[in-house]
Amino acid sequence: MSATLVTGIGELVTFDPAHPGPLGIVSDAAVLAVDGRVEWTGPSASAPRSDADEIVDVAGAAVIPGFVDSHTHLVFGGDRAAEFEARMAGRPYTAGGIRSTVAATRAAPDDELRARLQRFVAELHAQGTTTFEVKSGYGLTVADEERLLRLAREVTDETTYLGAHVVPPEYADDPEAYVELVTGDMLDACLPHARWIDVFCETGAFTVEQSRRILTAGAARGLGVRLHAAQLGPGEGVALAVELDAASVDHCTYLSDDDVERLAASRTVATLLPGVEFSTRHPYPSGRRLLDAGATVALASDCNPGSSFTSSMPFCMALAVREMGLTPAEALQAATLGGAAALRRDDVGHLRPGARADLAVLAAPSHIHLAYRPGVPLVARTVRA
Ligand code: NIG
Ligand code: FE
Repeated sequence: MSATLVTGIGELVTFDPAHPGPLGIVSDAAVLAVDGRVEWTGPSASAPRSDADEIVDVAGAAVIPGFVDSHTHLVFGGDRAAEFEARMAGRPYTAGGIRSTVAATRAAPDDELRARLQRFVAELHAQGTTTFEVKSGYGLTVADEERLLRLAREVTDETTYLGAHVVPPEYADDPEAYVELVTGDMLDACLPHARWIDVFCETGAFTVEQSRRILTAGAARGLGVRLHAAQLGPGEGVALAVELDAASVDHCTYLSDDDVERLAASRTVATLLPGVEFSTRHPYPSGRRLLDAGATVALASDCNPGSSFTSSMPFCMALAVREMGLTPAEALQAATLGGAAALRRDDVGHLRPGARADLAVLAAPSHIHLAYRPGVPLVARTVRA
């Protein structure tokens, strides 16, 4: 047994209903972790010191649950800086850019992709992210999708099969044959390395009908369902996600009133990806509208070389506060507990007794500073389990 007491916490965010307010905040607090799990949280003065093998004093810092980034595409080759530069000069974002990353990814050997992935994982940890999802989707052959998921599995259990990212060039004349592959041999090959299945349901990618077939095929083999929808324009993707009881529908940039109502009445999480609006110049959707309707909202980075090349959850929180109508407290909740809900996890995203002892120590006295001081590296230390 190994027990660590983190003490001297100026503001501890727990999301434990045993503590006050929606964030379950304790001031002058301590956390006791035993064998990687939260055992106790409360005022420093009543901390069970004698139970601890190690005592860490954080000298008044704020401590929050580690971020849960429920949407990334971290296994890829090349970059698309020139495409970003062109967009900032007024060119539109299109789904077709994905194909240039597919070519670069197919050409990259495993070791190169692995080394890059490890650098991204280091970035995530340095910025307070302790749980993250990784999708395939830049291989789009049986062997490459299997390879990307195998590499992703080396760094996380939250892996998502996204063979249906776009139709690859070799199937341009016969998209239906590609859907057959995605629901057939490719699914067979990817299944051992995946927990989730996802589809990019959008003009220029896959139709609602194709998306339904693909997701249903994955669900029948035991994969959990998530969906990219309503990124570039309105459509039926959100309704499909709710119909299939998807854990999450991601982007949600263009929502109808019906979509918002459907989400609020479902357990499908609306995952907002403000890094995408930042990088594509699409309008930011209102997170306020979703929260006021009663939907569960998550924030994620969508870290990928095309539409959102940030791995920073604090940056996404700052955008959500400034551009999407969330309060700093709601943005923190969406980046932790919301992300956990989007992955249907109850062991992360909070610091209730029994949770994984995943936390971020801030170089700041309060969680509000994460949005108040955008662009400043405020995560002093990340602790995992
Ligand atoms: O989530 N929308 C689809 N997929 C990614 C973008 C991928 C790319 O442009 O390379 C996304 O935004
Ligand atoms: Fe994405």
